[in-house]
Amino acid sequence: MTKRIAIPGIRSSKVRNGNDPLVMVTAYDAPSARVASEAGVDMILVGDSVAMVVLGYDNTLQLTTEDMAYHVASVARAKPAAVIVADMPWMSFHVSVEDTVRNAAKLVSAGAHCVKLEGGRKRLPMIDAVRSAEIPVMGHVGLTPQSINVMGGFKVQARQAAAARSVVDAAKALEGAGCFALIVEAVPDVVGEMVTNAVDIPIIGIGAGPKCDGQVLVYHDLIGLENRFKPKFVRRYGTAFEDQVQALSHFAKDTRSGSFPSQEESYAANEELTEALGLYGSQGDGEGQDG
Ligand code: KIV
Repeated sequence: MTKRIAIPGIRSSKVRNGNDPLVMVTAYDAPSARVASEAGVDMILVGDSVAMVVLGYDNTLQLTTEDMAYHVASVARAKPAAVIVADMPWMSFHVSVEDTVRNAAKLVSAGAHCVKLEGGRKRLPMIDAVRSAEIPVMGHVGLTPQSINVMGGFKVQARQAAAARSVVDAAKALEGAGCFALIVEAVPDVVGEMVTNAVDIPIIGIGAGPKCDGQVLVYHDLIGLENRFKPKFVRRYGTAFEDQVQALSHFAKDTRSGSFPSQEESYAANEELTEALGLYGSQGDGEGQDG
């Protein structure tokens, strides 16, 4: 297992300074955190995408801070060798700076090393307050899924020059507010490159082209467990949905045919028990484990 890069190391990790691109993946529970850690990713994002890919909602707006804390704690219990980034759910950082700091603190108490929050200049007071509580903040611009009702859906952003410039402007403002890194989601590749060139903190892209300082994907998209739709920017590295259907179908077939469990998969009774139960002739070897 590789050693975790601490947040100051992430902060200075620009590709233009000779660093390798940063690798980030979402994870929402202990087994996926163990897999991510074993694969040597730099950062695990406990994303609010959990609402859609795990909890079955149509968007991310239903998720609460308590839901997020539950998933952060599950990831943290796996003790991954990666920075754990907790996504702040919608309305957990919109009401007041006090409320924002309290919610961010709940996520750190659950095991996160830092928080991520969506939005540009409007979020600067919240970012400042969270940082004053010694909690590092990652920003998120471009397509911000919590703004789905304002944006009119999960749509590519910054297709016009003015919108592209305002993403760059937002990135600079977030850097100025002390964010240690930014996610840029679903913008044309040239805009991903412009933002990356405009700031000294790393830009982690998702649908923002190859010129960013790192890439993030949603775990279930990457392994092919989410197979209902595939955004253009997703590369599937596995066929987890089909593999799991196949495994469970096999189990169902073996159970129905009586070929599962076998003798080797059953606890054998010892001689004393077979005698006491009057089961002479049954095939026990007495080596079964209890429990
Ligand atoms: O919640 C999430 O998974 C995210 C990524 C899409 C960056 O915010």
